Amino acid sequence: MSKVEKDELSGVDTTGHDWDGIKELDNPMPRWWLWTFYATIIWSIGYWVVYPAWPLVSDYTKGVFGYSSRAELHEELASVEEGRASITTELVNADLADVKNNPQLYQFALSGGRSNYAVNCSQCHGSGAQGAPGFPNLNDDDWLWGGSVDAIYQTIKYGIRSDHDETRTGEMPAFLRDEILEKDQVSDVAEYVLSLSQEGRDPEAVTRGAEVYANECASCHGENARGNPEFGAPNLTDAIWFYGGDKQTIVNTIANGRANVMPAWDDRLDESVIRQISLYVHSLGGGK
Ligand code: HEC
Ligand code: HEC
Repeated sequence: MSKVEKDELSGVDTTGHDWDGIKELDNPMPRWWLWTFYATIIWSIGYWVVYPAWPLVSDYTKGVFGYSSRAELHEELASVEEGRASITTELVNADLADVKNNPQLYQFALSGGRSNYAVNCSQCHGSGAQGAPGFPNLNDDDWLWGGSVDAIYQTIKYGIRSDHDETRTGEMPAFLRDEILEKDQVSDVAEYVLSLSQEGRDPEAVTRGAEVYANECASCHGENARGNPEFGAPNLTDAIWFYGGDKQTIVNTIANGRANVMPAWDDRLDESVIRQISLYVHSLGGGK
């Protein structure tokens, strides 16, 4: 039922629709609305021309600007990469001990070092660098091979008793196995070693052990038993033990020797990464 008629009140035609006596006026669209609508059509034509728009069978129309969000991403990545390359070069050329004075470079090294440590080192030294028997704790400020950042760098780059030509070596001899000392002497010198950090050891054994120590051990561990980073000989006077500080373990160390291997990273990680890790490890120990 549609019958167009004139509405009495407003004088506008109705659409002719009638719903239970309710009728609809046929007012024209507002001007502003129409013009906006036309404008969007014109805009969209411009958009087709300028930007990628139409899918084709195996491609799409590229538009005169040739824009693509992927190309933009590539460009952004390239510029980030370039920024990083320059900071990497800066780190590689820097004097390690000075990096601390350059906050931006230092921050970069620490965060890179932290993540590279987690990937490469945590399986042996622990995720918190706390170490384990035979694998040194890197958090304390007790170092076998020196705790300056340069010494740490050298350890990481060339390893210890590793297969690298420039590795550091130095072994704890097997005094019993190689028949340098008798069983009793090994036990005595172990007592002496323990007496350096513990009260209440057997005084007679300690006296005998001190003599053995002076003859056989002082050359590497030092007369005062404070260790020597040149041979990686641990300090025996602190109560920090690398292999373990109970008598049995110490007797075992002296009897059979020790020579754990820290791999060299020279061929596996690039220079910048080795430097980042060195600075990170140095920062853990409080740093000498
Ligand atoms: C396969 C196990 C292993 C891995 C992996 C390893 N280390 Fe070691 N690391 C050792 C052992 C064992 C020693 C002790 C060597 C020794 O007996 O003197 C050591 C010693 C060190 C030392 C010397 C500690 C001191 O007191 O002087 C530093 C520093 C060190 N490692 C850092 C690292 C870093 C950094 C990484 C990763 C890039 C790493 N290590 C990966 C086994 C490992
Ligand atoms: C040629 C040098 C050298 C001589 C001599 C030597 N040591 Fe060592 N000693 C070392 C080195 C190096 C280590 C560390 C081994 C390692 O890193 O695996 C070590 C480790 C030890 C440890 C383990 C410390 C720990 O924290 O677990 C003890 C204990 C020890 N030596 C006692 C002695 C005693 C006692 C003698 C004399 C009977 C002696 N050493 C003679 C080089 C030496």
